[in-house]
This record gives sequence, C-alpha cells and structure tokens, in this order.
Amino acid sequence: MRKIVIAGNWKMNKTVAESVKLAAEVVAAAKDIKTVTVAIAPTYLALAKVAEVVAGSNVKLAAQDVHWENQGAFTGKVSADMLKEIGVDFVIIGHSEQRTYFGETDATVNKKVRKVQSLGMTPIICIGETLDERKSGQLESVLTRQVNGAYDGLSGDDALRTVIAYEPVWAIGTGVTASDDEAQQAHAFVRGLLATLYGDHVAQSISIQYGGSMKPENAAGLLAQADIDGGLIGGAALKADSFLGIITPGESLNK
Ligand code: PGA
Repeated sequence: MRKIVIAGNWKMNKTVAESVKLAAEVVAAAKDIKTVTVAIAPTYLALAKVAEVVAGSNVKLAAQDVHWENQGAFTGKVSADMLKEIGVDFVIIGHSEQRTYFGETDATVNKKVRKVQSLGMTPIICIGETLDERKSGQLESVLTRQVNGAYDGLSGDDALRTVIAYEPVWAIGTGVTASDDEAQQAHAFVRGLLATLYGDHVAQSISIQYGGSMKPENAAGLLAQADIDGGLIGGAALKADSFLGIITPGESLNK
C-alpha cells in the first residue's frame, strides 16, 4: 500500500519569523490528520527554527535542495549532514526551477539522491516536461530520461525509500493544472518506468505526487486518480487553510 504524501514547497517565500508562524498554523491545522504524510519545506534559513516548531507533531520537515558533497568550497550550498543534524526528513531534488535556473541535470539529481539516502532521509525527486516538450511529443522520452537518470545505480530497496513528484513545468505557478486524466496518464507512465527498472512490487510501493497549481478546488479530483499519491504544493501551501484543503481529501484514500 502506498502512502499519500503532501508536501508544501515554500520556495523563496517567508522570512524566518513568518515561517515559524506558518509552521505553527500548519501544525495546528494538521493535528487530526492521520493517514496522510504531511511535510513543509521552508527556506534553508528557516529550517532550524521550523524544526523546533514541528518537533513532536505529525508534520515532517523538508528541505528544498541539498549539495551532494559533505563539506568544502561550495559557496552558497548546504550539505546533507547539515540537514540531517536539524531533523530534516525529506529533501526536494531536481525541482524544475533548479533545473531551469541553476543548472541542475539528471546527473546532479542522481548524486543528490544517493547522498540524501545514505543519511536516511527521503528524496522527493521532481520530474516533468515543459510545454514545448509535451507539444512536440516528447513527454515520454523526457520522463524516461529523468527517471532513468535519477535512479541510476539505485537498488530496489533504495528505490523504495524515494518519492517522485511529477510536475508538468507548464502547470507550475501558472494556475493551469493538468486535467485529472492528463496527470493520471503521466503518473501511470512513470509507474511503468519504475516497474521496468525494479519490477511491479517496488513500482506499486513508490508514492508519486502531482505538482503544478494544485489547490483545494482540484485536489480531490487529482488525488482520486489511481496513480496519484499526493502532491507537491507551491502557492497553495503558503496559507495553512488552503494547504489543509488539499490534505483533507487525501485522508482515508487507500492506494
Ligand atoms: P505551484 O508549485 O503549486 O505553485 O504550482 C508547485 C511546485 O513548484 O512544487
């Protein structure tokens, strides 16, 4: 059975004080959530303070990125050990904004995934096609390249300790959401890729989130799809009530 995992990606929003406030609101809002795994990803700067707020609650802590080296001359970067020390559970890796603006490649995604896993944290591996890629019939080849790249060298046991976020780039922050059918088709394709790599049992056990303008109004329809196991939420995660409005429809869904 797969877990429904719903994570709020706060991106470059909220000061430390604002992050602490929002985290406290999410903790309060999610206190009765039982079956959904809920996580929030503040900026690096706010992680340590937010860790104190979520400690002992049912809200997990996520980071928005990581570097693959342990330490050294990598100005501006943060290592996996540093994240681990303050109690990070999930690390978002390969977000399309990282890929588009900061030179993330399938190879760096793979290095980050391995490093995060070696310390017992769970990577949320982001994949997804641009509008041009979809329009020119490259959806499947892009997803295949991204999945094969991210999982290169990972065993079936390693793969079981990953989450995927399928995020069509054209739906991120645009207000345009993939239809339930479009999203389900892409998710089923990704699960098929995992089955090719690791067999059915592993493929059926990996949670695949949808991301891209997910909000309370469309969450129930998306989450009801057979292969959609949660969400990676940007804009709608910046307010506790709209974030809860996405989490609630995920309760009691068995996949
Ligand atoms: P959005 O962002 O919900 O604002 O579209 C999703 C994401 O980038 O993870």
